[in-house]
Amino acid sequence: MKTNVTEAALKESQLVVFGDSKALVSALALKIFEESEQAIKERGVFTLSLSGGSTPKALYEHLASKYKEKLQWSKILFFLGDERCVAHDDKDSNFKMITTAMFSQAAVPPTNIFPTVDQDTDPELSASKYHKTMIDAFKVPINTVPVFDFVLLGLGPDGHTASLFPESKALTEEKHTFVANWVEKFNSYRLTSTFPLLNAARHVVFLVSGDGKAEIMKSIFSASEVKYPAQKVKPISGKVEWYVDKPAVALLNLKA
Ligand code: 6PG
Repeated sequence: MKTNVTEAALKESQLVVFGDSKALVSALALKIFEESEQAIKERGVFTLSLSGGSTPKALYEHLASKYKEKLQWSKILFFLGDERCVAHDDKDSNFKMITTAMFSQAAVPPTNIFPTVDQDTDPELSASKYHKTMIDAFKVPINTVPVFDFVLLGLGPDGHTASLFPESKALTEEKHTFVANWVEKFNSYRLTSTFPLLNAARHVVFLVSGDGKAEIMKSIFSASEVKYPAQKVKPISGKVEWYVDKPAVALLNLKA
């Protein structure tokens, strides 16, 4: 049963729909390339926060192959939007996934890649160290919020994004940019960007693919109130877009 998209939802964010995941990945890779070129022209650097999970793996592989010779890798700074509290060689590590899919396949200078440290031994310390890592890389004062050119986010079936899970403490974080967030259902900490950091970005793009996300997309885009963490991503002066494939929006009535 299809549902109409509420005007409120569309007012907040732009839905960009593609026929399938291949077309979606190809278009998003082009978008990232174009925005990197523009940022590098304007500011000499492109700052990019990367999502974990399984969906973006194909995007990272596509960037490393189709844009291997086109992206100005040495002028792009790569950060993690969130990370699991495991060693970097653990199968669940986002850094491991992104390194395998992209960093190891393209000419990315290691000094342009900013993984978390100590995430597996001291989540709280790791989160505060990551704030400092961002501050140093952005060359901004310690108490400022770094402004990312581009933040890539995923969406969980429960409406979480990054590691901002429903009912978790980090949802109400208003000061720190990156925190250790206890996630009850995993009985573990996750490191995550907070809304102050996400909402400072110039451009945030959710990458959502597959029929497994149709229910949550229907809930979010037909909601008349904020019920899910992903709905709280509303860049203050930037923009948010949802790059999705048809299966992910199969339960929404979308104007042609
Ligand atoms: C993570 C991600 C998380 C992810 C969603 C969707 O660390 O897992 O940052 O927010 O994007 O859970 O994951 P899938 O792409 O695997 O569905």
